[in-house]
Amino acid sequence: MKAKIILLPGDGIGPEIVNAARQVLDTVASKAGHEFTYAEHLIGGIAIDETGNPLPEETLKGFEGADAILLGAVGGPKWDDPKASVRPEQGLLGMRKHLGLFANVRPVKMVPGLEDASPLKPERTRGVDLVFIRELVGGIYFGERGRFEKDGKRVGFDTMIYDEAEIRRIVELAFRVARGRKKHVTSIDKANVLDSMRVWREVATEVGKENPDVTLHHQLVDSAAMRLVTHPSEFDVIVAGNMFGDILSDEGAVLTGSLGLLPSASLREDHVGVYEPIHGSAPDIAGKGIANPLGQILSAAMLLRHSLSLEAEATMVENAVYQAIADGLRTADLGGGESSLGTAAMSEAICERIERA
Ligand code: IPM
Ligand code: MG
Repeated sequence: MKAKIILLPGDGIGPEIVNAARQVLDTVASKAGHEFTYAEHLIGGIAIDETGNPLPEETLKGFEGADAILLGAVGGPKWDDPKASVRPEQGLLGMRKHLGLFANVRPVKMVPGLEDASPLKPERTRGVDLVFIRELVGGIYFGERGRFEKDGKRVGFDTMIYDEAEIRRIVELAFRVARGRKKHVTSIDKANVLDSMRVWREVATEVGKENPDVTLHHQLVDSAAMRLVTHPSEFDVIVAGNMFGDILSDEGAVLTGSLGLLPSASLREDHVGVYEPIHGSAPDIAGKGIANPLGQILSAAMLLRHSLSLEAEATMVENAVYQAIADGLRTADLGGGESSLGTAAMSEAICERIERA
């Protein structure tokens, strides 16, 4: 098949790991007879430096006709001044809104061979296999906000707001995903305190009644935060609003102890999606050639699966990654120590395993 893929390397280690993932995509393409074309565009801090805008018009134009977008990471200390009026993160949030990517999907699975990397006891993390479905274009991230002065004091406010259609589409997606898994949805809210979250629970309950083959549990966000570390293997699909999903998915990401390994997809109703590793731009190791490319490579696997419907190719990439880990290959962040592989060597090892498969 033919596909047009947009590359948004972004900041920090972004360019190195996007480059590594592109090599993997090219290997898959030549092995399976596909034709992928790429176009690279600016986003984040580098886009601010070059154009003054974290999401330039030219980048938005580049999205037209694209099948999928592979993003590295945005941000870094250079642009971190909290008083700055333009920030790299605005590029990310603006892109999500512009493309209508309402669902952020983050699978978290214990990788065989990396059990020791988890901060939790092995008996707790055994069998962890869950997926976060986070609402991405609504809630407090996009509600009314502002700052003003009152009685000589600075005041800031943000508004958590959800309508039932926004809740329904994300919860319905969670049910569809659960149907292909362990058929269990945990809906996160704070219905004991917040009105927006009472509407959330009502709508989730309705969707649950319409999908009786999938079990639904409601859980308050605070107790969910606790159970994620005490009983992580009890979760299957976790659906949450934008803010709670942001927080819980980072907590979920460290369960496996391998932040550098986790991919994510931001999706909408059609096939177009943005794929990025869940880790940040790691400015401290940028340009050193030691960044772990596996989260980016597994994001490319999600791209193959969700945007291009290439399930077999996606599995091929995932198996190559798991095989490399089983073979004992490690980057520095995975505890590789003296024998750590750098970014290029690790991506070559993945490409070799795909070619051999
Ligand atoms: C994420 C990140 C972003 C978010 C930041 C960088 C704006 O934390 O993708 O989870 O809060 O959504
Ligand atoms: Mg986050």
